[in-house]
Amino acid sequence: EKGGYASFMLKEIAEQPKAVADTLLGRIDASGRLTLDEVRIPDAVLREADKVVVIACGTAFHAGLIAKYAIEHWTRIPCEVELASEFRYRDPILNRRTLVIAISQSGETMDTLMALRHAREQGAKVLAVCNTNGSTIPRESDAVLYTHAGPEVAVASTKAFLTQLVACYLLALYLGQVRGTKWGDEIHAVVRDLARIGDEVERVLETMEPVRALARSLADRNTVLFLGRHVGYPVALEGALKLKELAYMHAEGFAAGELKHGPIALIEEGLPVVVVVPSPRGRSVLHDKIVSNIQEIRARGARTIVIAEEGDEAVVPYADHLVRIPATPTLLQPLVATVPLQVFACELATARGNEVDQPRNLAKSVTVE
Ligand code: M6R
Repeated sequence: EKGGYASFMLKEIAEQPKAVADTLLGRIDASGRLTLDEVRIPDAVLREADKVVVIACGTAFHAGLIAKYAIEHWTRIPCEVELASEFRYRDPILNRRTLVIAISQSGETMDTLMALRHAREQGAKVLAVCNTNGSTIPRESDAVLYTHAGPEVAVASTKAFLTQLVACYLLALYLGQVRGTKWGDEIHAVVRDLARIGDEVERVLETMEPVRALARSLADRNTVLFLGRHVGYPVALEGALKLKELAYMHAEGFAAGELKHGPIALIEEGLPVVVVVPSPRGRSVLHDKIVSNIQEIRARGARTIVIAEEGDEAVVPYADHLVRIPATPTLLQPLVATVPLQVFACELATARGNEVDQPRNLAKSVTVE
């Protein structure tokens, strides 16, 4: 069943280009317009929505954090993202104009299910982003946008995450299309970029050998830190989560702008720090700021592992290890930037002798609170 791979996780990492392409299939017409027929929530309701709330757990929550950047940018609707387990006990303010997006690979996560029930009781419309046909979360939602990752067996989520991102981008663009925001041209360009992104993920997978070697060389370390900005921040959180659950190491993701507010005190000689660098094109201010962050931590002894776009020369002098990813628009960068972090965690865990498909203490789907 593992199709020649040593683990389901490796197989599922390799399946990502197809999973991404399958999730786009049939959802963009020849003229570049989105046709999300499954979204049965009437356009009038989508037009009137004045707030989006994303609820999810774990990796799906990280997809939600990235979705917020896309939704707010392309639709100008305020978007909150919350851990389902926190949301339901917080007495959240919801009404008929709130669109709730519940993201779940399994469709059976108890906290997410309870949160969506709570939202519907308050009159909110709930749209599920789910990978499992007929599971409880889509059955109890007003509508569902299925991710087409295929069954995900490994406990650590990989291909489901990438397809959750694709589904969230599609939803954000669709909301923009329905509401006719001023981003019309940009939306067309992004749809074109999205249609190509599976090939870019494939290119990343083809260049992962140095990342594997690096991971093996760090097998005896205790801590790895991850830094990012903008959509790179949730990518850093996701890289840290993968390392925790697979390698049982202390791993933490930070927003790079927070370094001086505390985390920089952790930097010591030889500490591996992975930095996800935004594209130097477009939002170049962010790029320049993170290059300064890399300089700061390196001056304090960090061993910098820099994930940066092809052609970004500014990072070269400060990168102890440089991982190249294809140039993509900033909002889509998580689709390519997450892949090296998955490979890194999987290889490091294997080097430590851990069972990557079944990490200790974890279940694939958490059906208890
Ligand atoms: O099935 P779900 O997407 O609702 O699961 C949510 C989390 O339990 C899940 O993403 C978990 O964090 C993964 N093990 C992370 O790799």
